[in-house]
Amino acid sequence: MDVLRAIYGRRAIRQFEADTPSGKVIESVIADAVQAPNSINRQAWSFIVVQGRERLAAYSREAKAAALGALPPAVTSELRGMLQAPDFNIFYDAPALVIVCATLDEPMVHQDCCLAAQTLMLAAHAKGLGTCWIGFAEGWLNLAQTKRELGIPPGHVAVAPIIIGYPREVPKPPGRRAAAIMWIGGPVAAETVAAG
Ligand SMILES: Cc1cc2nc3c(=O)[nH]c(=O)nc-3n(C[C@H](O)[C@H](O)[C@H](O)COP(=O)(O)O)c2cc1C
Repeated sequence: MDVLRAIYGRRAIRQFEADTPSGKVIESVIADAVQAPNSINRQAWSFIVVQGRERLAAYSREAKAAALGALPPAVTSELRGMLQAPDFNIFYDAPALVIVCATLDEPMVHQDCCLAAQTLMLAAHAKGLGTCWIGFAEGWLNLAQTKRELGIPPGHVAVAPIIIGYPREVPKPPGRRAAAIMWIGGPVAAETVAAG
């Protein structure tokens, strides 16, 4: 798939088909993800794959309780209401979750993980899969007790929890505001660009 088509066509997917992507398919998008640019090519990331709808539904209950407990008082009642709703599954009944983790406590490693996450989401889209970054899960994933339960090494930090599966419904593009651009010393006129 053309890269621009992937960038414009990717959506956050929250409804999935019953089929679970095979381990091979998930490994292939992780292989794509590690092509992301990263600072001094340290590749200080790891990928934890959690499979199983029932397991993820149980984790959702734990993660919601942790997220509610950590919400600052100023947070809107809408968000609070979502987390309190018993039927709300923060993983949207997805068949699998890929957690991109930082493996070094050094500058720029989290940025590297975010780039790997975006590369994974674009590659997944190009391969007919759907993804959604689940920020709601981050706090819970980084609790010492959760790391012990899931076998995440204590020094690894969960940066990008991404659900993945085959999309059942693709939402309409939510749209974007025009980017705020501030030029310093520009812009270059089109004719100058054409002239090289
Ligand atoms: C850091 C981050 C955290 C997010 N957390 C959640 C989340 O917890 N739950 C959710 O449904 N979507 C989450 N999203 C998905 C966004 O809501 C979605 O990307 C946004 O609405 C734009 O839609 P699009 O991705 O289809 O363009 C998150 C996205 C990012 C980048």
